[in-house]
Amino acid sequence: MASMIPHNDKTLTLDSRVTFHDNNSMPRFGLGTWRSEPGKVQNIVREAILNHGYRLFDGAWIYQNEHEVGNGIHEALEQSQGAVKREDLFITTKLWNQHHEPQDVEWAVRDSLKKLRLDYIDLYLIHWPVAFKNIPDNVWSQKDGEKTRLYAENVTLADTWKAMEKLVDAQLVRSIGVSNFNQSQIDEILQIARIRPVVNQIELHPYFNQAEMREYCAKNDIVVTSYSPLSNLKRENEREEDASALYNPVIQEIAKEKHKTPAQIIIRWHLQHGLVVIPKTVTPERLAENAHIYDFALSDTDMRRINQLGETHRRRFVNPPFLPPGDKPVFDN
Ligand SMILES: NC(=O)c1ccc[n+]([C@@H]2O[C@H](COP(=O)([O-])OP(=O)(O)OC[C@H]3O[C@@H](n4cnc5c(N)ncnc54)[C@H](OP(=O)(O)O)[C@@H]3O)[C@@H](O)[C@H]2O)c1
Repeated sequence: MASMIPHNDKTLTLDSRVTFHDNNSMPRFGLGTWRSEPGKVQNIVREAILNHGYRLFDGAWIYQNEHEVGNGIHEALEQSQGAVKREDLFITTKLWNQHHEPQDVEWAVRDSLKKLRLDYIDLYLIHWPVAFKNIPDNVWSQKDGEKTRLYAENVTLADTWKAMEKLVDAQLVRSIGVSNFNQSQIDEILQIARIRPVVNQIELHPYFNQAEMREYCAKNDIVVTSYSPLSNLKRENEREEDASALYNPVIQEIAKEKHKTPAQIIIRWHLQHGLVVIPKTVTPERLAENAHIYDFALSDTDMRRINQLGETHRRRFVNPPFLPPGDKPVFDN
């Protein structure tokens, strides 16, 4: 059961894992790879494994860098000379919208496996609750700025989920889950699931703390993974300092008190909430910085002050312009 970790839990380490209801388990901390550029991501993945103890890597078919992530993994396995084995690592990747039709799901995971050069994926997620038709170039379902009607209207989430379950049966993936799903979309899956989702990966950070979704997932024994955990994104024409929680005075003050960086404070806040957290970086110094979060703890007061930012500064950053059938935006808040 995914539980809250008390702030003074001295057992929280880089090796800490969370156990799913299917009895598999995943590390609580790992590396994100969205927008990790080819030319950089291979080295950063290798360094993460060999020199910083990272074991969880979060990728996706649509990030178009799985082959480099795979190269980084294999270089590290080779160079570790047996000290790190495939089974020590936990690899997550995601089914893209274009591959929701049941006959395409196995193709998609096999394509990711080929690029990653692996024979199984630890955790495979439906990336978005939106099905595109699988036609050439329909990667974003948006062409020349024109909204196009290229959604696979007859494909339900349940159809796609049943195809995901078959991947577990075929031992291509160990566990399956979802991403960017709301409660009613998860309910739709739970009603028909033979294998229940183990994870919902969602945008979650001090400015968008998803209290309701965390509660819902805890009740349903679903582990929450925080994406964009540093909220280090901004809208066009916005200054980074005005957007990201890394620059928030409360975070900065706590960082100063604890002799830590703002990123370390935010990552620790996720862990103390019992969340899995996957900050992305391609910068070697930050790779080390983000993993050095086990020699201090946030007090209840620190946690409360950071939680309050979700009310005073509430905002979602990742909200793609998908308009699935019904013309409702993918997020209505
Ligand atoms: N399921 C989904 O739909 C979804 C959506 C978004 C993200 N994700 C996953 O979640 C991962 C993390 O989210 P994210 O990449 O959006 O955002 P993030 O991890 O919150 O932030 C990444 C940004 O912060 C910078 N950064 C990293 N460490 C830092 C530090 N210590 N101090 C200051 N800046 C730092 C990185 O720059 P440098 O790289 O230049 O160092 C990068 O610009 C993704 O990579 C992806 O794997 C999933």
